[in-house]
Formats: sequence, C-alpha cells, structure tokens
Amino acid sequence: MKRTIINELLQQEDFDQKVLVKGWVRNRRGSKNVAFVAMNDGSCIHNIQVVVDFAKMGEEIMEKVSVGASLSVEGTLVASQGGGQKMEIIAEKLEVLGTADPDKYPLQPKKHSLEFLRDIAHLRFRTNTFGAITRIRHAMIFAVHKFFNDKGFYNIHTPIITASDAEGAGEMFQVSTLDIGNPPRDEEGEIDFKQDFFGKKTNLTVSGQLEAELAALAMGQVYTFGPTFRAENSNTTRHLSEFWMIEPEVAFNDLTDNMDLAEEMLKYMVKYALDNCTDDLQFLSKRLQDEEKTKKADERSMELIEKLRFVNDNDFVRLTYTEAINILRNSKPNKKKKFDYVIEGWGADLQSEHERYLVEKHFKKPVILVDYPKEIKAFYMRVNEDDKTVRAMDILFPGIGEIVGGSQREERLDVLLEKMKAMDIPEEEMWWFLDTRRFGTVPHSGFGLGFERLMLFVTGMGNIRDVIPFPRAPKQAEF
Ligand code: 4AD
Ligand code: MG
Repeated sequence: MKRTIINELLQQEDFDQKVLVKGWVRNRRGSKNVAFVAMNDGSCIHNIQVVVDFAKMGEEIMEKVSVGASLSVEGTLVASQGGGQKMEIIAEKLEVLGTADPDKYPLQPKKHSLEFLRDIAHLRFRTNTFGAITRIRHAMIFAVHKFFNDKGFYNIHTPIITASDAEGAGEMFQVSTLDIGNPPRDEEGEIDFKQDFFGKKTNLTVSGQLEAELAALAMGQVYTFGPTFRAENSNTTRHLSEFWMIEPEVAFNDLTDNMDLAEEMLKYMVKYALDNCTDDLQFLSKRLQDEEKTKKADERSMELIEKLRFVNDNDFVRLTYTEAINILRNSKPNKKKKFDYVIEGWGADLQSEHERYLVEKHFKKPVILVDYPKEIKAFYMRVNEDDKTVRAMDILFPGIGEIVGGSQREERLDVLLEKMKAMDIPEEEMWWFLDTRRFGTVPHSGFGLGFERLMLFVTGMGNIRDVIPFPRAPKQAEF
C-alpha cells in the first residue's frame, strides 16, 4: 500500500477507505488501552488523529507509542466522532519505526521557549512553529524564482569564493589553505598569498552584485539568489554571519525603475504568502497574539495577516535622505536625546533606531529612502548632479528596519575611477568590473533583499536566528 501524505489525506472527502500514513507522534491522549495519537509528517501544520486500541494492536507496543516516536499506521479513514477534527484513522496495523525515550526526548507537548529551541535546532523542525516557518521559507524561495521567471529575468549563479570586497566594508571571512600556524612569508615578511590555493587572497562573498552587473550588461535582466557571508561582529536580532540575498540587476533601469521593481517584488512575496501559506500564517498569527497579550496595549503590533495585507495594499512612502534627516532632527526622541545616536545634522549615517522611527512612528508605512550622502555609501553608486549624494535606495520596513539596499550604478568610467581612487579601491584588481564601463556601458540598477529579513517580516518572528534552519552568528556554528 502506498503512503498518503497527511496534507493530502486531510483534503479527502472519501471516508471508509484504507490508508497508510507515516510520521511522528506529537501527542498522545486517552486511556492506557485506547489512545488518541496525534501524528504529524511535516507536510502541513495539522496532525492526523489515530485511534489505537492496544488490545488489538499488541500490548507490547503500548509504551513505545510515545511523543517523538515514529510510526507507520495502516487503518480506515473515518469521519471523526469527537470534536476538533474532521477525520481520524482507526488503526488496524501499527508499527513503531523508532522509539523516543520519554525521559530523554527534549520536545514534550508544551510550550518551549525559542531560546531553548535554538539550542536544539536539530530537533526544532518537529515543532509547529518551525514546521510553519520552514514551509513558509520554502514558499518564499519558490516565489522569488517565480516572480523573476515570469518577468523574463535570468538566474545567475555568482561565485561564493571571490577576491573582491563588493561592499568595501572589509567584513569578510578569509578562504585559505595556507597553514595558519606557519604561513609562507615574502621578502618583506608579509604572508605570501601567491602560494595560497588561488594564488591570491580570497574570501567568502559579501554580495553577488558585481558579478550580477557583468551578466546584466549582456543578458539585460538577471538576478542572483545565493548565500552571502559577513564577519561583522553584530550580535543583534537582525544580523546573521551567513544569510541569503536576492539581488536583481537590470540594464537600462534608473533609480525610479529600481524602486518600482523592489516594491512590486516585496508586494508579490507578501501576496504569495497570503495566498499560499494560509494555515501556517494563521498558526503563527495566533502564536504572536498570545505573546502580545503580555505586552502593554500601546506596544502591541498589528495582527500578522492584517499587517501583511496592509503592506500589500498601500504604496510605500518615497523620500530623500535629506527630508528624512529633517524629520528626525525635529522628532521628539531626537530633541529629548532618547536616541542612542542623536542626529546632529546632514551626513549622519542612519541607525536602525532612526529607520524604525520613520517607519513605525512617523509614516506608519514602508519607506523608501533615496539620495544618501556619498561618503556613507559604497563606491559603485551613481553620483548625483549635486556631487554630494548618490542614487542609493534603502527600503525600511516596520519591525525590521532596512530590508532592501540598492542603487543606480555609476556607469561613467571617469567618475567611477575617481571615486575608487578616493575610496582606496585598487583599480588593478577591479579591471574586469571596469571593462563593462569601457565597452558598451549603460545606465543600470539593482538591489539586494535580505531573504531572512523578509522572512522575519512575513512570519512575524522577532529574531533572525529563528527564520533560518541553522543560524551562523558570532560564536555560533553548531549543527
Ligand atoms: O545593503 P546591503 O549591504 O547591500 C548589498 O550588499 C548590495 N550589494 C546589494 C545590491 O545592490 N545588489 O545588503 C542588502 C540587504 C540588506 O538590506 C539586508 O536586508 C540584508 O541584505 N543584510 C543582512 N541580512 C542579515 N544579516 C546581515 N548581516 C545582513 N547584512 C545585510
Ligand atoms: Mg545596506
């Protein structure tokens, strides 16, 4: 007999048929002799109830059908007698595939803290919360590819090992096969990377953008969706050392086209989740509402599904960095010096407390900020006519802060060279990037969407370590 996935089984209208299901015990109620066993196989948030009469099934397995054990159950699917579920299986053949000692199995049917579950990330897939997050994560990955494929974009695999620092922030993990205890030295006594595996100093990529630009300047519309690595020592609920980034790059797009694309994409993702992840979103929403009850009324946030609909239905606010600085300078927390970083004037880098003030307190909507001071942004952004600002855009989301960072790129060779010199970016190492500006250069734009930040928004979770299966963060590389 073929196994039926629980998600498919629960769509059945056709009762009194024989079925075979396999999965893990989530809960067991009833008496010692007749048990109601809730089974889950990961296919959906719901369990199937199995009624087991041990007098018929064999008393030797009575103790073994415990929370966490894996079962194979053959039986008859019937309309349920009890409330709470539409159907159940009356077991006729039951095999315990793997036991789970109740004294040792860490996941009991009660509420575990997210911190505790982080320590057992190898098992947390077996909870409702992480099952829901994992399914939503899959749906969002699929939606990214669908969105771009439907628009005629090409997916590009950009390298993971690279010799360049795209963002110029120097937050890179080195890749080397040299003996770190005793590396070869050159005449000056410096480490001789010529003898390293790639014959030069290499690192894990912080962004696939530079290579995506190369592809865009021939293929027109491309995107990369890959892992990126940052060795910044920020132990926050919004930062990972290894995260996934979606980076579209489009030839002939200016900054407005870029904003339009990013806004359309974010709304598409949110709508896709609303349309395809209803059960899991409902579960997470309820979970959040229980959590919110412990907060003061004015600190509670919007209900999850309502919040997603709100973002999908409303235009994002678009304004310049200069306008944002004026709002922030005149804001209450700035005047009362409540911000950790008080905004003194134009040129200040925005911290996440400022971004969240704009989005959550001032506009109460997603915000796209453009035209940042050139000094605080990467070398590749196009300089505006004022020679003070660049065509950067950051998208700020409620509860998240920056979710997207992007720009129109500097396509003018002379301006780019001048800027690289000013920012100490070695020209000879970037010859290939500069060649695109030497031969058939065109205006072009792109952005990077942090996939886990999007996941935070869609799931309503509060810590980025809970929306990726195996988080990497300072001092954390278990599993
Ligand atoms: O703003 P960032 O640094 O932009 C770039 O890397 C550009 N090369 C993108 C481009 O134009 N193609 O990063 C983009 C996004 C951020 O807005 C944020 O959502 C996410 O990546 N991000 C992180 N997410 C998790 N952990 C971190 N440490 C992150 N750093 C950036
Ligand atoms: Mg950024």
